[in-house]
Amino acid sequence: MSKVEMTVNGKAVSGDAAGNTLLTEFLREELRLTGTHVGCDTSQCGACVVHVNGEAVKACTMFAAEAAGAEVTTIEGMANADGSLGVIQAAFQEHHGLQCGFCTPGMVMSAAALLKENPKPSEAEVRDYLEGNICRCTGYHNIVKAIMAASGQDVGAIAAE
Ligand code: FES
Ligand code: FES
Repeated sequence: MSKVEMTVNGKAVSGDAAGNTLLTEFLREELRLTGTHVGCDTSQCGACVVHVNGEAVKACTMFAAEAAGAEVTTIEGMANADGSLGVIQAAFQEHHGLQCGFCTPGMVMSAAALLKENPKPSEAEVRDYLEGNICRCTGYHNIVKAIMAASGQDVGAIAAE
């Protein structure tokens, strides 16, 4: 075990990690930030997406030690300063972009990364970007709608499902 230091959601943190401790394990078990979910052991589901130095990363594919010194943002960092839901989270709530909610942290983090690089994505672009995020419940339709609404686009033309 060695000490790993990084900045998570704007706060300097440190914790113990072995060489093979995954970033997901470090966040969830060492820092108790359990909003980052683990939905598979094959790097397919995307429930674990966080941002590392501004890039969306599947935290189950990275060792904690590789994120040493990095700026990490997790779903806990997506709320507004007063604790209310951030824009993307509120859009998921308003447009029913979740059912069980297991995939939601990863979806929100992927959506945030998408909107940073493409502030007004088309429906096809949203669907394409979410390729690495699996949802077992929603059929994706309302997730896509929520992300487009969060980007300020009129989603009235997208039929409800
Ligand atoms: Fe499934 Fe990371 S836990 S991709
Ligand atoms: Fe259940 Fe997506 S809302 S897995």
